[in-house]
Amino acid sequence: MKFNFASLQALEAYCQAEGFDLRFSQSTEILSQPLKLDGYELKNRFCVHPMEGSDAGPGGSVSRLVTERYKGFAKGGSALIWFEAVSVLPQGRAGPNQLLINKENLEGFKKLIEEVKLQGLKSNGFEPKLLMQLTHSGRFSKPEGLPKPIIAYHHKELDKRHNISEDLEPVSDAYLDSLPGVFAKAALMAQEAGFDGVDIKCCHRYLLSELLSAYERKGKYGGSFENRAALLFECVEAVRSAADPGFIIGSRLNGFDALPGGFACSSDDYMQPDLGESIRLVKALKAKGVGIFNITTGSPYYNSFVNRPNDVEKDENPLLGVSRMFGVIASLQEALGSTPVVGTGYSYLRNFIPYAAAGEIAHGRCSLVGLGRMSLARPNYPKEIMKNELPPAKKLCTTCGKCAALLRAGRASHCVVFDRR
Ligand SMILES: Cc1cc2nc3c(=O)[nH]c(=O)nc-3n(C[C@H](O)[C@H](O)[C@H](O)COP(=O)(O)O)c2cc1C
Ligand code: SF4
Repeated sequence: MKFNFASLQALEAYCQAEGFDLRFSQSTEILSQPLKLDGYELKNRFCVHPMEGSDAGPGGSVSRLVTERYKGFAKGGSALIWFEAVSVLPQGRAGPNQLLINKENLEGFKKLIEEVKLQGLKSNGFEPKLLMQLTHSGRFSKPEGLPKPIIAYHHKELDKRHNISEDLEPVSDAYLDSLPGVFAKAALMAQEAGFDGVDIKCCHRYLLSELLSAYERKGKYGGSFENRAALLFECVEAVRSAADPGFIIGSRLNGFDALPGGFACSSDDYMQPDLGESIRLVKALKAKGVGIFNITTGSPYYNSFVNRPNDVEKDENPLLGVSRMFGVIASLQEALGSTPVVGTGYSYLRNFIPYAAAGEIAHGRCSLVGLGRMSLARPNYPKEIMKNELPPAKKLCTTCGKCAALLRAGRASHCVVFDRR
């Protein structure tokens, strides 16, 4: 299917006919309204989603390209900028050009935050809130450009797809035991750099996310729900006790994996969510001090059409993908009550984003709207939406997937269509 709707009415009628549950609102005022949270306020309902640029400087340092990208996002007017995956350890990097948080790179991060906040203040009269996404790439680690997988357990389909030998030993409990301290140290550095908080990344089947489905793993990190979630919980607790009380802890979490044997997948059909454990997980994380969630699904290495609905892959109707993602997010927002959830999956909707964003928020199905690919294609779109100066559809992300292809190739990722660098 190619996305081609002449009007909002046509899109709504199509969704209704196909049984896709998307909510729309003609009035988009809610998007400019602030969100008052525990100890801080978000100035509007827009969030820039985390997107790895694969354009760090030597040793994972902040480069000019990184700085320019985030200043562009700050100009765009979103209240929240959820920074891309930053590795907590050299061996956990997804590629040699991924950012790395360590003592050597700290000054660069400080300068970056200063410039991004200043840019927000100059362009929009407020400093956006900034969260650093802390990651360990686990199975997808490629620290020097070649795969060096660190797996929680063997997974038939993923092993095959990524040529992982059955002789590779899963990561030891001792290695995993060391990670809460590593995440806490990284969070303290993020705090010193000026970030308002961190996200302990647990999505897309990177290390912490893969552990959630380690049903057959032996030992303290496998088997029961408590064991599979133990490392994530310990990382949250370690960060909470190390950081200042007002420092925000967020979690980008897979609502469900949509792959065989995955987390929160229905036992009859892995493409359908079974959210019992996800709901248990978000409630437990909230009790441990996670104050904001950003929900996503799938894995870009296995089912990118689930992760980023698009017009290029032919696996399913992309609007079915959007509808499934919105449904998962709505269920988790309902379970979390007033704790904010950032919604995902909007870029596919292009010129109808304002109405879907306003509709989903107005119906209480999420609290903020995250834009991923659209932020690369048109960083000023949030501001344009809030001013009601809407650009024509042809100036918006086409979901061609070329930014992600650059990333997978280990090259600097950017919007190939609109960013003619
Ligand atoms: C180039 C690229 C890099 C990405 N890097 C990250 C990342 O670092 N962390 C993350 O959680 N998601 C990452 N994502 C996924 C996005 O955050 C987002 O979930 C996805 O693109 C769907 O949102 P959209 O439809 O608005 O693009 C990336 C996506 C793209 C296209
Ligand atoms: S490269 Fe394609 S998918 Fe990526 S932001 Fe640009 S138009 Fe969108």
